[in-house]
Amino acid sequence: MTKKLYIKTYGCQMNVYDSLRMADVMAPLGYSASDTVEDADLVILNTCHIREKAEDKVYSDLGRILKEKDKKKAKGEKMLIAVGGCVGQAEGAEIIHRAPYVDMVLGPQTYHQLPEMVTRAIRDGGGVVELEFPTVQKFDLLPESNIAQGASAFLSVQEGCDKFCSFCVVPYTRGVEYSRKVSAVMDEAKRLVGQGAVEITLLGQNVNAYHGENKGGTATLADLIAQLANINGLERIRYTTSHPRDMSDDLIAIHGSEPKLMPFLHLPVQSGSDEILKRMNRKHTAELYFDIIARLRTSRPDIAFSSDFIVGFPGESDKDFEDTMTLVRQVQFAQAYSFKYSQRPGTPAAVDDRQIEEKVKDERLQRLQTLLREQQTAYNASGVGKTMSVLLDRDGKHEGQLLGKSPYMQSVHVQGAEPYRGQLVDVKMTGAFLNSLSGEIVENTVNMRKAS
Ligand code: 5AD
Ligand code: SF4
Repeated sequence: MTKKLYIKTYGCQMNVYDSLRMADVMAPLGYSASDTVEDADLVILNTCHIREKAEDKVYSDLGRILKEKDKKKAKGEKMLIAVGGCVGQAEGAEIIHRAPYVDMVLGPQTYHQLPEMVTRAIRDGGGVVELEFPTVQKFDLLPESNIAQGASAFLSVQEGCDKFCSFCVVPYTRGVEYSRKVSAVMDEAKRLVGQGAVEITLLGQNVNAYHGENKGGTATLADLIAQLANINGLERIRYTTSHPRDMSDDLIAIHGSEPKLMPFLHLPVQSGSDEILKRMNRKHTAELYFDIIARLRTSRPDIAFSSDFIVGFPGESDKDFEDTMTLVRQVQFAQAYSFKYSQRPGTPAAVDDRQIEEKVKDERLQRLQTLLREQQTAYNASGVGKTMSVLLDRDGKHEGQLLGKSPYMQSVHVQGAEPYRGQLVDVKMTGAFLNSLSGEIVENTVNMRKAS
């Protein structure tokens, strides 16, 4: 008998990948994916602990899911609820104290144990908590990935982080850095391409620290990209998220030499003030960041940049914040994420007594976001009139519209492109907005591609 599995994913792309793998793990037990909570036999919340807001959302969603669980109970049916991901890892059994209707709590390192946990939860009526980091890596314990991801796929190659930025929970929730073997990554990539992937995004909390075993030696991320580029049918390679300290020479160089590696890089800087960067334990200065950007631009002149920023880190002065604004003006970003500093339990910065007032954080965030929006709008506008290859992998908002990504990670919507779903096509850009571009298919190139 088939059972229904509903997974809600919060936070980063690694969680999106983990959710797919949880579905893989549960498939042999007869669980198939469902889009709705109401008819689910098992609900998994794959959570994010990075900022307070992300965590609050989990508890408010749990309240709504409880109502559905009660409705099912009234009909004599069962619904199991699991809280997985980084909130699971950080809060553990505390979640069951706060929300006793949660049956299982697990972390990012223990989801290969889900089938056994479900069996225990059914037998014991809930209360199952599994957070031990396994001695054998979970990737080696998981079944092969089987769920087709479509034209653009994610592949986790690295997990965990040894950087210990003073604001960040990741080293505590995801653990120490671990890189998957090159052979395991290659096998999974070939499987994804066999299932229709044209683009693969390599994932890791600190992906450019990748150092995977390779035929007795060690491969860097650049070595891995070079090997992946040999896979026929794989046309685009991306990777995220990177740390400036780990932008090695070979990685910078391959941006210039490997056409399948897309000209876009998400490279979080967090702040433009050296004093704040030091206290964030970022292990780089603004100068080093500028230098890396300049070297990447020499290697691949059209490369576009994205970043993460935190405003209102403890002790951030007006001058420190202005340094961040200056850095943004100097680099010119194609897109970026920016956040107000959020005190995370157990991290060094949370106990700093120089916390910044909410009002100041709000003002700074607004100013920064206004500047970043201006840059993003200008960047998108500069694409109008150009022809770019777009991977049309999703439905657009409107009837008959498909959505895809340009090489520079811009969303592009195209009308009447249904015959090209899942394909890379040349699109002439006709309009630009804050978050996307619109364009028309260049018919000649499509026909030429088809003929070749
Ligand atoms: N407060 C605000 N933002 C944070 N990030 C990580 N930890 C915090 C925090 N405590 C941001 C960083 C990181 C991104 C994933 O989330 O900018 O790069
Ligand atoms: Fe967190 Fe810093 Fe590691 Fe990124 S590099 S995951 S911000 S500790």
